[in-house]
Amino acid sequence: MKEVKVALLGAGTVGSAVVRLLQANAEEFNLRAGARLRVIGIAVRNLEAPRDPAIDRALLTTDAHAIIAQADIVIELMGGIEPAREYILAAFAAGASVVTGNKALLAEHGPELYDAAARAGVDLYYEAAVGGAVPVVYGLRESLAGDRVTHILGIVNGTTNYILDEMTTNGESFDAAVKKAQELGYAEADPSADVDGYDAAAKCAILASLAFHTRVQLSDVHTHGIRDITPEMIASAGRGGYVVKLVASAKRRANGIELYVGPTLIPAQHPLATVHGAYNAIVVEGEAADRLMFYGPGAGGNPTATAVLSDLVAAAHHRVHGGLAPRELAYGELPILPPAQARSRFQLSMDVADHVGVLSEVTGTFARHNVSISGVTQESPTADHLCRLTVTTHEALQADVEATIADLSAAAGPATVSTASFVRVEVA
Ligand code: HSE
Repeated sequence: MKEVKVALLGAGTVGSAVVRLLQANAEEFNLRAGARLRVIGIAVRNLEAPRDPAIDRALLTTDAHAIIAQADIVIELMGGIEPAREYILAAFAAGASVVTGNKALLAEHGPELYDAAARAGVDLYYEAAVGGAVPVVYGLRESLAGDRVTHILGIVNGTTNYILDEMTTNGESFDAAVKKAQELGYAEADPSADVDGYDAAAKCAILASLAFHTRVQLSDVHTHGIRDITPEMIASAGRGGYVVKLVASAKRRANGIELYVGPTLIPAQHPLATVHGAYNAIVVEGEAADRLMFYGPGAGGNPTATAVLSDLVAAAHHRVHGGLAPRELAYGELPILPPAQARSRFQLSMDVADHVGVLSEVTGTFARHNVSISGVTQESPTADHLCRLTVTTHEALQADVEATIADLSAAAGPATVSTASFVRVEVA
């Protein structure tokens, strides 16, 4: 059997799981790849740090370039932009294929990497970048090459799904739920990448690029995190038949692509409403296939390692038998629509003065901005004579909804709006 030399960059949770699973099932992976997979070195920052017992310390090195130069396949699991980008480009220059799980790097520098892989005639695989074990990259790139995708709506960040689920199920505060997520190892000490939506936005850019054959970058994705979600908002959504989820949405419109990451009201009967804990789920709608759902563990060592290993097997198979992974396709060249041009159903919440004529003034403002209302609920006035109004709209232009809020907030009539906010609403 031919030998394929593998260099691993990074030996954290996922890297260690890759080594462990590869060792435990070596013969089977060799048979699948059609080659003997041999790890020739593992590049780490600190040689002395504690390591998983599966890691052979004799393979550890701080000289990534030395092992890249000898490798047939480089697995990059160090994360971050630099030096990961530099190492991957060095791997391509040396004729090696690359397997990576680096969503931030792909979302910011994907085109440079895809071009470099194509010029070198080698593979760039990245199943682990989105959805952990969930084969959604393969699904979009290969399985759905037979259809035209119209919408992707996904829970692609397990940490925030866990936090929102805790707040929903146990009525916990955001801070308490984050603390629990940190104790369980989901959230980092600095939880910003997850709770501010950046991790989901990077994944959104990757999925949208694949689905619409258009180059989409992290900065194209309008992103809002979950820091301002309260247990009260979640309870109020529940009374209306919704659950609050942080979703990534990429939608094909006649004039371009709408991209969005943010907290969204999901009807209780929608398949995403039943996704609990740190699980991921991505609903993909195709013109011909209709609605598909990819579901499973979106993070964690072993689940994510399975995605890396499947890419490793595919890349090794190509080294032995020839062939290449599908190239990046960017022929779509669809324009990215600004957030104000996005169309969605929305729910607006506002505190209004409890006076005669308030409702007519509020609904009149919606009408003036061409925003059609599908439902209104009013909660009893508080001691300071404010009522909480919740207004759900039919599909409307975000710019019109923002203009409605601006007008209501500035109104001098009886509808003195003290606070107003809006959130998107998905249809079941
Ligand atoms: N932190 C991510 C999540 C996993 O919580 O889903 C890695 O992207």
